[in-house]
Amino acid sequence: MVIDALAPQPAPAGTSPAHGPVHLRAGGVSLVITQTGTRMPRIVHWGADLGELDDAAIAELDRARTGQVMTNQPDMVVELGVVPEHSSAWAGTPGLAGHRGGRDFTSRFTVVGLDAGDDHASWQMTDPDAGLGLDYTVQIFAGGLVRHRATVRNTGSTDFDLADLLVATPVPAEAGEILHLTGRHLRERSPQRHEFTRGTHLREGRRGRTGMETPLVHVVGVPGFGFRRGEVWGQHVAWSGNWRTLAERDAEGVSLLAGGELLLSGEIRLAPGEEYTTPWVYLSYGEGLDQMADRFHAYLRSRPQHPTRPRPVTMNVWEAVYFDHQLDRLLEIAEVAAANGVERYVLDDGWFGSRRNDHAGLGDWQVSPDAWPDGLGPLVERVKELGMEFGLWVEPEMMQQDSELARRHPDWFLAPPHRLPIESRRQQVLDLAHPEASEYLFEAISALVGEYGIAYLKWDHNRDLVEPAHRPSGRAGIHEQTLATYALMDRLKAAHPGLEIESCSSGGARVDLGVLERTDRIWGSDCIDALERQQIQRGTAMLVPPELVGSHVGSDVAHTTGRRHSIGFRAGTALFGHFGIEWDLTKASPAELAELGEWIALYKQLRPLLHTGRVVHGDHPDPAVWVTGIVAQDGSRAVYQMAQVATSVQTQVGVVRLPGLDDDARYRVRPLAPGDIAPGPWHTPLPWWAPEGVELSGRALRIAGLRTPTIYPDRLVLLEVERV
Ligand code: DGJ
Repeated sequence: MVIDALAPQPAPAGTSPAHGPVHLRAGGVSLVITQTGTRMPRIVHWGADLGELDDAAIAELDRARTGQVMTNQPDMVVELGVVPEHSSAWAGTPGLAGHRGGRDFTSRFTVVGLDAGDDHASWQMTDPDAGLGLDYTVQIFAGGLVRHRATVRNTGSTDFDLADLLVATPVPAEAGEILHLTGRHLRERSPQRHEFTRGTHLREGRRGRTGMETPLVHVVGVPGFGFRRGEVWGQHVAWSGNWRTLAERDAEGVSLLAGGELLLSGEIRLAPGEEYTTPWVYLSYGEGLDQMADRFHAYLRSRPQHPTRPRPVTMNVWEAVYFDHQLDRLLEIAEVAAANGVERYVLDDGWFGSRRNDHAGLGDWQVSPDAWPDGLGPLVERVKELGMEFGLWVEPEMMQQDSELARRHPDWFLAPPHRLPIESRRQQVLDLAHPEASEYLFEAISALVGEYGIAYLKWDHNRDLVEPAHRPSGRAGIHEQTLATYALMDRLKAAHPGLEIESCSSGGARVDLGVLERTDRIWGSDCIDALERQQIQRGTAMLVPPELVGSHVGSDVAHTTGRRHSIGFRAGTALFGHFGIEWDLTKASPAELAELGEWIALYKQLRPLLHTGRVVHGDHPDPAVWVTGIVAQDGSRAVYQMAQVATSVQTQVGVVRLPGLDDDARYRVRPLAPGDIAPGPWHTPLPWWAPEGVELSGRALRIAGLRTPTIYPDRLVLLEVERV
């Protein structure tokens, strides 16, 4: 039976048909994209490497996998294009939604061009009837990470209102389970796992920032997948505004991941000739979550802007002094910090304008003469004399009603024309899409960076963007705000080479690969309780490598939970990130300072390994025992952490497997001081828990494992592993 719709479509007059297929391969991953005639390209396979495939082999693969036309179905086999269209029998979430005065809501794109290289491909498509052009670009990086995005262009003669543009990839039916994160202030990155059932599993961010509740990576996998086992396919939308990510499984048996920006009503209206591009949507495949995360880490580390100089031990004074800025006290903290090995000193909120608490002042980025009568100079100079870099907190995208800036420029609020949105932390949002507002921020912040020789900005963002309208037009403005923020960061970095920026947003509410293209660190959470941080860092590591995740040692009692933790647990947790301190060290006892000093020394000794190695996790059967390791890329050494995050049901930890080493090498495993103290219930010592340790092969450590000490909850021990 010949079905018309299956016949290749003729190319529009004046164009020539362009054909794939395209096979991008790298790092053990294959991405095969093909097209039927001139119809929209579609991903045939994204997953484990399929080896060399010539065009004929890809055609056979496609033929072998093509389904049937079924009863009471459209008369063509469903094709899931990279921007899914209903004109190809797909009946799920469309990739493109929009209209032109109520028309042109549906499309049927035809390929008119294809540029392909070894690691990328880009298709140009057109739909003259709808008056639209579409570009689709996909890239693969050396480590196997894939990213793709689309651009839609209004080729018609009237405005086109764009509602949605998503890029999609199928995933195999074997992916029967979903994992995604959620969270709230002080508890980011809580995992949620459940069956991948039929229907649309949609996550959306409508808070104008990446958000505490970001899934971070939307993962589907073979049921039961873990860190080291089971195929997983993960998607991340690299965008710091509103976002959409969905996993969908339909009645035809098609399963997919799709993602893009969430557009507010009327936010994108394309005039004739204008275009809109989605954020990059990253795709990472892995045999286990560790391999999926490793591809993100490898990509981030391969970028030219990735910070390579040693990540400095950072003292942030927020939890030490909050808004109580007294020069003497801040100087005293600086002295103690420097004497104990701190390398960067960050002055947090409260140094500017009328900002003596969180009620006023945001927007006035001039040093407060009340709090700092002699300017920041006396502090900055002493910090530098002590051999530390100086960092400063800013929150550029915000403006408070009680500020000089707001009194001068009420038109700069990102707000509906005739009223302000509900305040949050008593603040409103500054509309960076006003060129004069961006210019003001650039001049003000640039002047501070220049005057004080600031090495580092902690760039905060402490509220959701609700009712985000441009004034006076009243049009929705998250898209523009996000781009303008990126542009401001880029401009400041270009004007001040070497300037580092930390992405902070009420803690960890702006963690994504969009902001990470122009920042050097993310603040994981406002919660520095080490127990909470174990989960927060474990979740964050799905996307971000440890050197980019700020992790601080707080005071003995955590300010946000009231829990009391040992220095070992606090510092051992911070060790697996970009190590810092957020504790008034002038109040620490000599014994505490001595112990902290040992951890700082260990961090400095280990950071070349910790900040370049592969992050691995054990799939330990006891949910109370978390095994995290960092293994040198060449397999020569590793550090593992065994954290007891709750009490266990069983009396002792049992055997722990150490993943990620070279199977055929022999290793000496030793307790690593100061993480070698194993406080716990009365028990006999482990035979090997001694300075000489034990020697085993990587294979034995991976498969048979070894005993680690049974310890109290909220404690950890460290192991050092070296190739013999
Ligand atoms: C939220 C941040 O996450 C904190 O670390 C601190 O900088 C405060 N804002 C300051 O207002």
